[in-house]
Amino acid sequence: MGKQRILSGIQTTGALHLGNYLGAIRNWVELQKEYDNFLFMADLHAITVPHDPAKLAENTFKVAATYIACGIDPERSTIFVQSHISAHSELAWLLNCITPLNWLERMIQFKEKSIKQGENVSIGLLDYPVLQAADILLYEPDQVPVGEDQKQHLELTRDIATRLNFQYGAEESPILKIPEPLIRAEGARVMSLTDGSRKMSKSDPSEMSRIELLDPPEVIQKKIKRCKTDPIRGLTFDDPERPECNNLLGLYTLLSNQSKESVAAACRDMGWGQFKPLLTEAMIETLRPIQQQYQTLLAEPGHLESVLRQGREQAEVIANQTLAKVKTALGFSIPL
Ligand code: TRP
Repeated sequence: MGKQRILSGIQTTGALHLGNYLGAIRNWVELQKEYDNFLFMADLHAITVPHDPAKLAENTFKVAATYIACGIDPERSTIFVQSHISAHSELAWLLNCITPLNWLERMIQFKEKSIKQGENVSIGLLDYPVLQAADILLYEPDQVPVGEDQKQHLELTRDIATRLNFQYGAEESPILKIPEPLIRAEGARVMSLTDGSRKMSKSDPSEMSRIELLDPPEVIQKKIKRCKTDPIRGLTFDDPERPECNNLLGLYTLLSNQSKESVAAACRDMGWGQFKPLLTEAMIETLRPIQQQYQTLLAEPGHLESVLRQGREQAEVIANQTLAKVKTALGFSIPL
């Protein structure tokens, strides 16, 4: 049997942060040893909220460089740009026509994001999960590693595929493969530095709420110095009254590659004044090689371009096969 296939992506709105790294990219790096990885930059999703055309392509390129700088190896993973493969948009349209509107109206992420957009909510924002379903289903992955917050989108993807198979396929030979979510361990959920009960997010207006992967050491130091804590001495995990404390200890655990138990024991009697420099140091040291590698990659754009070209060629073959299968099942004539 060949390797199982994994597919995942990140929306290319703005610079990637520590939550993207610890929650997603670092897991992909591990997974590429055992799986056949398909990883992409979701630039079509980036325009579901207002965007700056002058920055779109640049952001996509930077996210690609960040993937590789974090250890995604183009020899072992297929790295590609969503908008380079038109099958994503095309399958999304076909899936739109079999997806009931009320399935989309109840998506939590849509409700949250649309509150922020007020009157300007686009159809694209509502349709975001259908495009995501197309992204996934095109590659027939066995597993889709995503954060807890994407679980609902994964369930929707499975529901859409099941519905298409039921309406247009035969039981013995399903048209689309139903993917399994691979939800990472709770510990890898990185929260905001200014509010420990909210996820670290690119869309938080305050830069102090997140550590970007390209933040220089002095910026990291400043952000940790000012991050939200509490006046209690002795640091503990899992106290519901102390979400910031849990988050910062969790971050330290991941960054220093220690077990939760040993961090808990080491920090039990510490105050913030003692802990913060340790956390700062671990962060700077983790990000240093990533930042160096990133600079090297950006200095050599030709290399990155060829990685993306090759990724596109590999991904397109598979995407087009699945798209043709769906079009045939729906009754379209396929041009010869
Ligand atoms: N929605 C994901 C995010 O917010 C990005 C994404 C788009 C994705 N398409 C996907 C993730 C397909 C996994 C699979 O980061």
